[in-house]
Amino acid sequence: MQETNGHRVGGWQPLMLALDLPPLTVSGAQIGEQKLAVWRDSHGQVHASDDRCPHRGMRLSLGFVREDMLACLYHGWRFDESGHCRVIPAHPGVTPASTICVPVFPVAECMGLIWSRADGVATGAGPETEWRLPEGGSVTPVRTLTIKASLKTVMARLGATAGQSVRMLVTTGSGAVLPLLIVARPVGHDRTQCHLLLEGTVSQEDCEQAAFWAKDFRNTAERCDTGADYCV
Ligand code: FES
Repeated sequence: MQETNGHRVGGWQPLMLALDLPPLTVSGAQIGEQKLAVWRDSHGQVHASDDRCPHRGMRLSLGFVREDMLACLYHGWRFDESGHCRVIPAHPGVTPASTICVPVFPVAECMGLIWSRADGVATGAGPETEWRLPEGGSVTPVRTLTIKASLKTVMARLGATAGQSVRMLVTTGSGAVLPLLIVARPVGHDRTQCHLLLEGTVSQEDCEQAAFWAKDFRNTAERCDTGADYCV
């Protein structure tokens, strides 16, 4: 199992809220040392590839989606969902060699999140099982938050274990009690990415209250990570 900073990065990893990747857009993500270009085609399917163009090394996550292919920003080479280069604009009459390709990675869309895995294994348990996500039911995405604190600190504050989703009832400043689902993973050496969702279909106001709660939680976790004596 691949690890970084003491935490596993093998298996399915939650990268972003599904709604943060609209059709025909591309975004960057990272699992351990593996940088990814994550993109969505016109049919709503999500794909992930290595974030490095095989031509001159440009980051593919800075590119765009054209005709359901990932196009490089620099010279416009296009790669399909299998990672094979299909178009080289400078040579419109030439079929690119089959050896010109980028590595691709498995992708899943589950519980309002986009997941991928850097080990390339697409079989076995899905994210629901690996992360003990609640079965069935709907969720309302709230936001993704990056906390400048280790995953250990964040999970300790949540009273939970790394590598699992966290379900909790939070009381907001307005007194509302909300069913929050948090999926957290380490990014880099000292930061934690938290994806926040509310269980069920909730109002916009509840989403805003949950987002306020999350900001307060972030401030507390960051103080705790520095060992501040006013961490409570
Ligand atoms: S660097 Fe990507 S097409 Fe040239």
